[in-house]
Amino acid sequence: MGVKEMVFEFIETESQKQELEESLTLLEVQEGAQMPALQEAQRIYGYLPIEILERISCKLQIPVEELYSTATFYSQFSFVPKGKFTISVCMGTACYVKGAGDILDSYAQELNIKPGETTADRKFTLESCRCIGACGLAPVLTVNEEVYGRLTKKKGDKVLVTYQKMEDE
Ligand code: FES
Repeated sequence: MGVKEMVFEFIETESQKQELEESLTLLEVQEGAQMPALQEAQRIYGYLPIEILERISCKLQIPVEELYSTATFYSQFSFVPKGKFTISVCMGTACYVKGAGDILDSYAQELNIKPGETTADRKFTLESCRCIGACGLAPVLTVNEEVYGRLTKKKGDKVLVTYQKMEDE
């Protein structure tokens, strides 16, 4: 996804703004401030919005394109915010042979996003992951820290409805 394609509305709190400002003030006098600045921004905001890359660029006198290309190189950085609920479908062998692919597809269809994406309302992020060590319960998915096993399409649908309702309350 390119810098110009990001569609999420950027929202920040006063304390996030202040925290980043303080970090950048400390970093602007240091050599090699690029990585630490990106790491600080990722830690504070949970992702790297374009507005923040521009702010870092301005403060540290580093072109936005350079910050962007550094950040795309490392998997620790993300350009999209995570949803309130991260659904992670295990695609390890044991889960895969028991139909995890169908469950992932069905979630993608239901949420209208691809794995790795977040819904526009930031409620859900859909991911696939490797074995989480619960193969006896395959196929398995997690929603944030919660583990759901022995999934069927029906059970998977129920899990999603539970979180959709939870968010509406
Ligand atoms: S393969 Fe899914 S939990 Fe091990």
